[in-house]
Amino acid sequence: MGRTYELAKVFNDLLTIGICSYNRTNIQSRLQKKDEASEALYMETIKRYEHNDLKAFGAALGILKLNVWDNPYSDILGDFYMDYITNGQNGQYFTPAPVCEVMAKLQLGNLEDEGNRILDPACGSGRMLLSTAKLYYRNYFFGADNNNTCAKMATLNFFFNGLQGEIAWMNSLSMEWYGGWHINRNDLGIVPIEKEQSEIWSEAPKAVKFDKKTTKRASQPVEQLSLF
Ligand SMILES: C[S@@+](CC[C@H](N)C(=O)[O-])C[C@H]1O[C@@H](n2cnc3c(N)ncnc32)[C@H](O)[C@@H]1O
Repeated sequence: MGRTYELAKVFNDLLTIGICSYNRTNIQSRLQKKDEASEALYMETIKRYEHNDLKAFGAALGILKLNVWDNPYSDILGDFYMDYITNGQNGQYFTPAPVCEVMAKLQLGNLEDEGNRILDPACGSGRMLLSTAKLYYRNYFFGADNNNTCAKMATLNFFFNGLQGEIAWMNSLSMEWYGGWHINRNDLGIVPIEKEQSEIWSEAPKAVKFDKKTTKRASQPVEQLSLF
């Protein structure tokens, strides 16, 4: 399929199909009642594929779900993305899982067991948060990324692994908002959200540039640093 349609697009469509399929309304009503916006996005996404392609998407989502039984909190979406989609371009190398686990232990070693809110503002596929959940799963997990594919990988990783929280597709520096999802909040499933519903966007301090000459804050938000 990747040869016929372009692999990066197929991968992104797989993520969209997954997010629409696991929409909370659709899951809970067993498709008797549907989330119209998510249904429309699903139909728009699948329309260029053949019947057999759609079966392959279903199989891929099934494999991802079953993988959680054998390898909970692993990130095969992120591994695939690095190996086959970005090939390390655009700085898209994620932290290796063992390093994520050490960092989670070092950073959060004294964390109270439950109810905390943990944020990765440049979460990639969400693997740093998955490693944290492996240690402290009764918490709320928050991730933001300005790359659409990354935000969607993290959303599905949260859903499959039962993490409760939010993923924002946004620029964490300029605070530009593009979209987001609540995952497994109150109940199983994915719910698309607007920025006003986002805890990440709403509660973050809105950084501004500091004007050295006037010693006043300028109104422009900060810009992307070259570090990323
Ligand atoms: C090196 S990856 C790290 C991902 C993850 N935290 C990890 O440790 O594996 C950096 C991520 O930051 C994201 N990123 C870069 N600039 C960003 C910005 N201004 N706002 C949000 N995400 C950003 C990139 O899309 C990329 O997914």
